[in-house]
Amino acid sequence: MVARDDAKIKVRKNGPYLVSGSVPLIEETTLRGEDGMPTEWSKTRDYPEQEAYSLCRCGSSKNAPFCDMTHLDIGFEGREKAPRDNYIERSQLFSGPGLDMRDRVDICARAQFCQRSGGVWKLVQGSADPSKGSKAIEIIGQCSAGRLVAYDKQGSAIEPQFQRLISVTQDPGRRISGPLWVKGGIPVESADGFTYEIRNRATLCRCGRSKIHPFCDGTHLGDGFNDGTLRI
Ligand code: FES
Repeated sequence: MVARDDAKIKVRKNGPYLVSGSVPLIEETTLRGEDGMPTEWSKTRDYPEQEAYSLCRCGSSKNAPFCDMTHLDIGFEGREKAPRDNYIERSQLFSGPGLDMRDRVDICARAQFCQRSGGVWKLVQGSADPSKGSKAIEIIGQCSAGRLVAYDKQGSAIEPQFQRLISVTQDPGRRISGPLWVKGGIPVESADGFTYEIRNRATLCRCGRSKIHPFCDGTHLGDGFNDGTLRI
């Protein structure tokens, strides 16, 4: 299934994400090496194709990742507090000899891939060596939240090619469920009708506790979020 051109994600006030436009839904799991560090994302499930569906935002559904209306029973308050300016305005430039990188900390989903190979900042610093530069690009592309973006020295963003889909993330190595990884530039519209910056990578909170709803801010990690489908 391929997402339709008019695919979008609508945030319902104090409610779920309404997904329309035949957006494929999959599960991806963080694989970790012997040292406990993430190595790659692995697709671990395809959900049935649907033209439209609702995904849980409160973190309490018993039918995760889908909404089962529990948000009404628990009085979920999911006020959207995400800043409405663009990535470029809120990120900091980190410049290396062969590669640049921008970093926007407030949207970090704590997926931890950036700590591979001694840390991506060190790799960018050493990017005069092309092998370090290409390793940095690989790792930056694994950043689900799009906190990190690689740029060539001419200032063009280097992004992984993604099909438009939503990925339900899981991290059994840390015994947590992660956010929804929105790939390929699917518009996310707030409850009051504002369309957030359309990005190739973004993570939406599904634990209900982010301080920058609708985006993930990594709070799920400290809270040990488990959506009930996590296989450890
Ligand atoms: S899923 Fe990351 S803060 Fe809620």
